[in-house]
Amino acid sequence: MLLLLSLMLLSISGVVNSELSLDSFSSHRYGSKHIFLLAGQSNMAGRGGVNGNKWNGFIPPQCQSTPWIHRLNAGLRWEVAHEPLHVDIDENKTCGIGPGMSFANAIRASSSKIGVVRLVPCAIGGTKLSEWLRGTQHYNELVNRARVSLRGGGVIQALLWYQGESDTTSRMEADSYKGKMEKFITDLRSDLRLPSLPIIQVGLASGEGPFVDKVREAQRRINLQNVAYVDAKCLPVERDHLHLTTQSQVRLGQMMANAFLKRFKKQLYTKQ
Ligand SMILES: *[C@@H]1O[C@H](CO)[C@@H](O)[C@H](O)[C@H]1NC(C)=O
Repeated sequence: MLLLLSLMLLSISGVVNSELSLDSFSSHRYGSKHIFLLAGQSNMAGRGGVNGNKWNGFIPPQCQSTPWIHRLNAGLRWEVAHEPLHVDIDENKTCGIGPGMSFANAIRASSSKIGVVRLVPCAIGGTKLSEWLRGTQHYNELVNRARVSLRGGGVIQALLWYQGESDTTSRMEADSYKGKMEKFITDLRSDLRLPSLPIIQVGLASGEGPFVDKVREAQRRINLQNVAYVDAKCLPVERDHLHLTTQSQVRLGQMMANAFLKRFKKQLYTKQ
């Protein structure tokens, strides 16, 4: 029993020590830690500025790094967040600008009292919703990374979700999108023991198949509490007709931040 306890303590302190000098991010100096989970497919992982298999390296001012914005990397360590946010997560694709950094900077800009924003990138390009349901590898990764993210303190504030382009290729998948998405949200909230976890969901701007409007309709009709819908349809996409441009991603991040702040701002100021 005692051995077990000391082993547990050892492993916990191991995690803490290897974090980006956690001391300098202690709560009395940096305030609260607000954790956001990011999941979905390529437009969440970020393809802004990617042409062929190359990212152009341009980082807009709204996506700049700051010591106040962290990311949980693939090795489950915290580091100062930088573009491309999903570089080691969506590891087999070329990542560029996504909405995450613009979102985090917009949240930070909303008040001088915000504290630290911690991002947990989990999105994987080309994934259908069926690959995110409970029991799948991506679901398990999401839940595991969410749990690990709490070890350094802080509160999971929301899931940012941008997915569905791959479900537009078949009528059957488009038709079952609403039911599957509701199940995914319910399971995730239950497994994280966060029954009212806010979901900031992006309405599709594009798709791989003909049923984009069907999936968008399903997204709009999600019948659960605390699900906000941010419409990306107006945002310009790259020449591939699928991926949001860098400027679109900057805008989307700001729109998601506005949607979060409009409905859930109070959450940021409840005691941690
Ligand atoms: C990337 O490719 C490797 C080798 O095929 C595979 O093991 C890994 O799971 C892939 N990663 C993702 C995120 O799909």
